[in-house]
Amino acid sequence: MQIDLSTRREIGVFDSGVGGFTVLRELRALLPHARLRYLADTAYAPYGSRTPEEIRMRSFAITEHLIAQGAQLIVIACNTATAHAIDALRQHWPAVQFVGTEPGIKPAVAASANGRIGLLATPSTARSTRLRALIERHAAGREITVQGCAGVVDHIEAGDLASPELQALVARHCAPLVEAGVDTALLGCTHYPLIEPLWREALGPAVTLLRIETAVARRAADLWGPSPSDAAHLAVETSGNPDALQSWMAAVLGWTGVNVQAWRPENANGLPVQTP
Ligand code: DGL
Repeated sequence: MQIDLSTRREIGVFDSGVGGFTVLRELRALLPHARLRYLADTAYAPYGSRTPEEIRMRSFAITEHLIAQGAQLIVIACNTATAHAIDALRQHWPAVQFVGTEPGIKPAVAASANGRIGLLATPSTARSTRLRALIERHAAGREITVQGCAGVVDHIEAGDLASPELQALVARHCAPLVEAGVDTALLGCTHYPLIEPLWREALGPAVTLLRIETAVARRAADLWGPSPSDAAHLAVETSGNPDALQSWMAAVLGWTGVNVQAWRPENANGLPVQTP
């Protein structure tokens, strides 16, 4: 069902940090005239090492803010937040549409010739019951090697997309997949496409690497429909350091001229803020 044209305002997109830009980039291409607001919860990144309860608290605070700003569709551009919060968010805000980000287990099963599939995700996604259920539902009888890739997101957040340390870390995380003989691997974290060459290098040329952000953006674009041509707008907010995020966006995405605002929620929920 499409959203009512007469009442819609903007699409809210969030992630723990810069990973959701991989989804936002696709969304901007599909909906060049839409009003978009991106929230990077940088002060609390990475989510992958947080508890499900912490991730839910952050997701609620962010969603509340995005709705207050006029969001009628919320894209959870984060596998970890989707795994731990999407059900609770949908239940709490039944009138709001949510599009989540989940690894494409089904396409991976279709793509794999040998039935051995690898999934690279954050430690928290790797442990989630939602991921287990997804695998049981779509990949019964297949051999799925799930690797929680601790530490990778920290490098990407810091703007390191190619250092020897990161290459070595990626190789370590890919080793169990290589050992299992997977012929297909899924990037199960929205940060990971930003270092796709490193995954490819570590997995080798015989492995098919699948990403999900285009499908997520397409789903959101289908729900939203076309926008009036004068509505285009992008607002970016962060719970971390706006200047640092602005520099990251310019350096990695080549997005200059996007003003980044600080988001300091008044309803701070008591979680310790990590120094940005
Ligand atoms: N980009 C997020 C994901 O897709 C979260 C990464 C993190 O903060 O650990 O899972």
